[in-house]
Formats: sequence, structure tokens, C-alpha cells
Amino acid sequence: MKRNLSSLFAFLDEEWLKITPDAVRIRSKLAALGEHFENDHVALRTFDDARVNIATLSQPFLDAGYQSSGRYVFDAKMLNAESFRPPAGSNHPHVFISELDRSRVPAPLKDLVDATLQSLDSLPAGAAERAWALLSRERGWHPPTHAQYTAAAQHSEYAAWLWAYGICANHFTVSVNALARFDSVSAVNAWLLGEGFSLNGAPPYIQGRPGDFLVQSSTVAKQLPFEFACGHTAEIPSCYVEFAQRFVAEDGHLFDGFVTQSADKIFESTARSSSA
Ligand code: NI
Repeated sequence: MKRNLSSLFAFLDEEWLKITPDAVRIRSKLAALGEHFENDHVALRTFDDARVNIATLSQPFLDAGYQSSGRYVFDAKMLNAESFRPPAGSNHPHVFISELDRSRVPAPLKDLVDATLQSLDSLPAGAAERAWALLSRERGWHPPTHAQYTAAAQHSEYAAWLWAYGICANHFTVSVNALARFDSVSAVNAWLLGEGFSLNGAPPYIQGRPGDFLVQSSTVAKQLPFEFACGHTAEIPSCYVEFAQRFVAEDGHLFDGFVTQSADKIFESTARSSSA
């Protein structure tokens, strides 16, 4: 992969589409309506270990002119996150990176995560080099056995998902602002439900209010077969599609951050119990 952001986003998108069948269907249905898919943001997940944390993974974006646009704490999920806005005039998406905060997870989960991170021994030294190696999947930690996955999921669905899939896009996000036929997330939701998609959460499947300047919804991650390190294959939640509508904030500009309350619920799109 070429080390520029266009190649990186194309790679992340390609890998994501392989494990997000709903995304393929939604894009082709939107295209059939004559709609143009514009990506609001890409979400990446990681661990807080210094070799792979937000500071490391964000380096290629910062090097390309991205700037931090907010930091977030998700207490109940034991996560920290940071968002990054693209440079003015760029057509690249926002980037939202979250990390599992090992200082807040129960000891049994911390032991599991620390053990898997030991398989990350041959990473390049500089943050940018490391990030490119991780994001292009040249490097990564070893996938879990089925027993390890199940044990991790008891404490954190996020940790289990991340251990299994590694560093990859968790979701891409349809910008509702860029759609011509739909003027709200509720209009998009009605269409999605009519087309047979399952949405995350409870009716009306909307996270946030216009007063938060960001309203979002998401599909429920599909259960896909996953081959564990032990050779056992089982279905686990994969990735999902998100929809975001942004509103003009008090400063007169389109809001370009994220809302902790909304994102908190959306993390549950990859929980095993929410999967239809
Ligand atoms: Ni998101």
C-alpha cells in the first residue's frame, strides 16, 4: 500500500466491506437512488498500549494535516477516544479513534490483553512507521482462541471484538447532510427499516438531538463466521454502517466533533446481545 491517506482510506474501506455485508447492500441501494456516498468519519479501535494507542495510530493523520477535534471518555465502556478533523479543503473523512483503557478494566481482562499484546514484538520504532504497519495490517497481534474471545467478551464486548479483528475500520459513516433525498436521520432510518435492515438500539433508533449538533444511527453488526486461533469457527459480530447528520453549532460552523452520549450507545452495535 502506498503511504498516503487516499490509499489508506481505500484500503480500510476495502477491508471493511469484506466483513460488512450491509455496507455493500446499502451503498448499492443508495447508488440506485442516485445518491452520492460521502463518508463523515471512519472509526478505529485499539488498545491503550503505547505501541498501538491513539497517539500512535493518529500519527499518519496528523502528519497529513489532521488536527485533534475532541477527546472523550466512556466510563462504562472503559474507553478513551479522540477525534481528528481533516485539513480545510480536504475531502477525506473525520477520524475517530477509541482505545481500551487497561487501567480501568478488571484484572482478568487486563491479563488477557497484556498477554495478547506480547505478540506485538516486531513493530517499527517510530509512531508513524508503527501506525502504517498496523493500519495496513502488515503487523498486528495474534487472534484469540475461542475460549480467550469468550473470556474477554464477559468483561468487554469492545475488547473481544478488537482482539478478534485487529486494527481495522469498525465503521464508515454515511453523511446524511450529503444525501439529496433524505433530510434527516429519521428519514434514512425509515428507508433502512423498509429495506429490511436492523438498526441498533430501540425505536426510533436515533442517538443525539439536533441540540447536540450531531444525530446518528447505525445498523446492527452482522454475525459472521470467524476462525479462532484454536481452529474453532463460530459466528461473532462484525462491523456496521453508521449514519450521521451534523448541524450548525453556536459558532456558526457545522459541528465537527462527536457527542459522548451518542457514541456510547453506538459502541453497542457490535455487542453480541444486540445482534438480531
Ligand atoms: Ni461513529
